[in-house]
Amino acid sequence: MIVARTLAEWHKCRAQWPDDIGFVPTMGGLHEGHMRLVQAARPHERVVASIYVNPLQFGPHEDFAAYPRTREADCARLADAGVDAVFVPAEDAIYPHGRERHTQVRVPGLSEDLCGRYRPGHFEGVTTVVARLLGIIRPRVCYMGKKDYQQWRIVTRMVMDLALPVTVTGIDTVRASDGLALSTRNTYLTPDERARAPGLYATLRQAAGHVEGGMAPAAAEALAVSHLEALGFIPDYVAVRRASDLAPPSPTDSELVVLAAARLGRTRLIDNHEFRR
Ligand code: PAJ
Repeated sequence: MIVARTLAEWHKCRAQWPDDIGFVPTMGGLHEGHMRLVQAARPHERVVASIYVNPLQFGPHEDFAAYPRTREADCARLADAGVDAVFVPAEDAIYPHGRERHTQVRVPGLSEDLCGRYRPGHFEGVTTVVARLLGIIRPRVCYMGKKDYQQWRIVTRMVMDLALPVTVTGIDTVRASDGLALSTRNTYLTPDERARAPGLYATLRQAAGHVEGGMAPAAAEALAVSHLEALGFIPDYVAVRRASDLAPPSPTDSELVVLAAARLGRTRLIDNHEFRR
């Protein structure tokens, strides 16, 4: 596996390669969820991953400094999985004139909703870095996890709006056997919190069941919020939305998703569940 640390190292490799590249952008701290995206990319002639903890997508009081950095173990794992190259840039390869002066990419509306309401600037940070990574890697397909459902929809919108020559493919969430969505941030949970954490997904499934059974989305959301509070979470939101564009559902919409963000101690967990009614 080639480990490209600079743009020059990457471009040298890219120049000799076919265009059929499957790409998996990550922030490292790799787990089975990330590896499922790598598996999905395997049919391409080349598989490329990136590891970059993007400062632009962390708020001033968020966990940028504490975010797990496990580069050696991550690279070993990617090599074992048959990845052809990993791009591990330093900050000046991503933001050559400094992060403040870099061109910003923002998908309006969708980026200010749901998690965007509680993490101002977060999705601008994501779309800005993903746009640059897509320009550098030039993959045919970019694999994104549905675990970060809103992120996946926003990146898909960005690619359409900018007419970027790449397909974005969403991959189903990988979960622990008790239902908890795998996440790098799960390492922050204490044993007691880890035991309670599956309650988030269980609550979302229950809310979906209520809506399937005819309950109004707003009532199901309110019930889910109180249920999460009873389990010891501090919910930011629970929202039932139309799956395709995350708009509030009209009564005729049948493809829905229920999404939530909730804090458990110092860890902010997100999850979602797609369903039909
Ligand atoms: P990161 O949190 O490292 O996630 C990288 C990719 O793995 C994302 O597309 C995410 O949705 C996916 N992923 C994480 N947990 C998953 C799970 N349990 N099942 C399936 N997929 C999962 O998301 C980011 O990094 C960053 O915002 C990034 C897109 C790299 C831009 O900086």
